[in-house]
Amino acid sequence: MTPEQLARLAGELDDVDVVHNTAAFPIEGTRAEKRAERSVALWFLISALSGLAFLVAFIWWPWEYVNAGEPGHAIYSLYTPVIGFTFGFSILALGIAVIQAVKKLFPNEVAVQQRHDGPSDEIDRRTIMAQLADAGQKTTLGRRKLIVRSAGLSAAVLGVGTGVVALGGIVRNPWAEGDEAPLWHTGWRPENGETVYLRTDTGIVGDIARVRPEDMEPGSMMTVFPFRESERGNEEELLHAQRASDAPVMLIRLRPNTQVTPRPGQEDFNYGDFYAWSKICTHLGCPTSLYQAQDNRILCPCHQSQFLATLDAEPVFGPAARPLPQLPITVNEEGYFVARSDFVEPVGPAFWERPKTT
Ligand code: FES
Repeated sequence: MTPEQLARLAGELDDVDVVHNTAAFPIEGTRAEKRAERSVALWFLISALSGLAFLVAFIWWPWEYVNAGEPGHAIYSLYTPVIGFTFGFSILALGIAVIQAVKKLFPNEVAVQQRHDGPSDEIDRRTIMAQLADAGQKTTLGRRKLIVRSAGLSAAVLGVGTGVVALGGIVRNPWAEGDEAPLWHTGWRPENGETVYLRTDTGIVGDIARVRPEDMEPGSMMTVFPFRESERGNEEELLHAQRASDAPVMLIRLRPNTQVTPRPGQEDFNYGDFYAWSKICTHLGCPTSLYQAQDNRILCPCHQSQFLATLDAEPVFGPAARPLPQLPITVNEEGYFVARSDFVEPVGPAFWERPKTT
């Protein structure tokens, strides 16, 4: 049997009654047909070009943060709109091309099929491929090389684009700088012997409010950020120190005589009743902004993880599985809180910041 006969047989076996079937262009090669074909191909090409533009923007557009008012801020702020628009338009154009191909080039067919239950039998399975091949012939796509090629180009660009989006974030090697890789350190690391103070945010970047023990009442909490004297007057560095995602720390003054069970090796990380824990939740990185002095619980509002201050910020409820990292602090001869070192463990949930041995 020829494929066409098999396809007809498949229809009959499936109780399909073709009421009518007329080709969109019964005479091949007319100007109307060529116009329809070019229109479909044009949309596929637009889709491919948009996909290409997306790839170029995703890889080469300046994406690194630039402060408002600084040169390059306008270009930087367009990064997300540009990749969103090009990717979205590429998919939209692909959809338009497919719809146009079906409406303009596929045959107009009305068929009625009776429903039946159970699995398909052997003859059905053997004829389905013939039916599909016949459908492919009737849609005339087989002889429309322009459309097939432009559709292939569009699909290929979109496929590559999707792959780049998925893999783009892991192309750079975060360990390239070895022990000095930024992922190992936070802004709390003392550099060149310079003291790192604990400062609060007054809302004005250049207004440096370093923290003393007498600034806090028992049972209170304050959010603090790292500050070095060399940053004083340098708004850019001050902003950078304050906005780093792993910088915020909760400085908590426990009520007198509160017993804390420290983690091994961290027995002297506190200063009297003052404890400094990273504010970045170890579940998914939200700020753990709530401190309940009554029961010494630190609460994360995102998914309700709770950390017990008296257990050195061990999680006692919710999805977080790791304690909040503790910042070693002391008070210097001027009477200000200072960091004794960087955190000794990764901050937040980011697994790639964990030491390779864990
Ligand atoms: S981010 Fe804190 S509980 Fe999920």
